[in-house]
Amino acid sequence: MTEDSPTPPDPQRKRDERRVFIFLVAFLFPIMAVAIVGSYGFVVWLSHRHPDGLRPGGTLYETPSAPPIAGVPKDSGRDVRNYPEQPPVIPHSIRGYQMDLRYNQCLTCHNRNVAPDVGAPMVSVTHYTDRTGQTSAEVTPGRYFCTQCHVPQTDAEPLVDSDFMPIEAVIERETARQAYGASQ
Ligand code: HEC
Ligand code: HEC
Repeated sequence: MTEDSPTPPDPQRKRDERRVFIFLVAFLFPIMAVAIVGSYGFVVWLSHRHPDGLRPGGTLYETPSAPPIAGVPKDSGRDVRNYPEQPPVIPHSIRGYQMDLRYNQCLTCHNRNVAPDVGAPMVSVTHYTDRTGQTSAEVTPGRYFCTQCHVPQTDAEPLVDSDFMPIEAVIERETARQAYGASQ
C-alpha cells in the first residue's frame, strides 16, 4: 500500500458511525425535543401560579372551603310567575325523584287523572299539546322531562345579574314618568 492510495473503508468504523447516527436520531433528538417542550411548559406553568378570574381569591394550591349548597326554602308556597309563559318554579323538594323513559314520578301527582286527589296542580293543557297543536291523552314527549323547564325554588344567589322587570313594574315606571312629564 502506498502513501497516497485511498484507505479502504474500515468496516468497524462504518458500523460505529451507523450506531452513533441511530443513537442520535432515535434517542437523543426525541429526548431533547421532549425535554425542551416540557421545560417550556413548566416555565409557563410556574409563571401562572396565581390564576385569577374563575377562582376568586384562590390559587391552584389552596383548597377553599366549598360554598354551602343552596337550600330549598321551606314552606314558601307557590311563587308568582314573572310573566305568563314562565314555567312555574317547583315549590317542593324533588330530590331522588325518578324521571326516565320508564317512569315519571312527577306525573304520579301532576297528571290530569290524579292531580285533584293528591291536591297538586294539574300540568296545564300545553303539556298535552304537541307541536302541531294536536292535544293528546298523555303528556307529550316534548314536555315529558319536567326539569328541562321547571327548577325547584332555591335561595341560591343568581350567577348572572339581570335587570328584568315584570310588566307591572314597567307600567308603574312609565305611568310615573308620564305623570311627572305632564306636571312639568
Ligand atoms: C307527591 C306528589 C308530588 C310529586 C311527586 C311532585 N309534585 Fe309538584 N307539586 C305537588 C303539590 C301538592 C304542589 C302544590 C304545592 C303548593 O300548593 O304549595 C306541587 C307544585 C308544583 C309546581 C308549582 C306549580 C305552580 O303553578 O306554581 C311545579 C312546577 C311542580 N310541582 C313540578 C313538579 C315536578 C317537576 C315534579 C317531579 C320532579 C313534581 N312536581 C313532583 C305535588 C307533587
Ligand atoms: C318545555 C318546557 C316544559 C316542560 C318540559 C314541562 N313544563 Fe310544565 N310548564 C311549562 C310552562 C311554560 C308552564 C306555564 C305555561 C303553561 O301552562 O304552559 C308550565 C306550567 C306547569 C304547571 C302549572 C300548570 C297550571 O295550570 O298552573 C305545572 C304543575 C307543571 N308545568 C308541571 C310540569 C310537569 C310535572 C312536567 C313534566 C311531566 C312539566 N311541567 C314539563 C313548561 C314546561
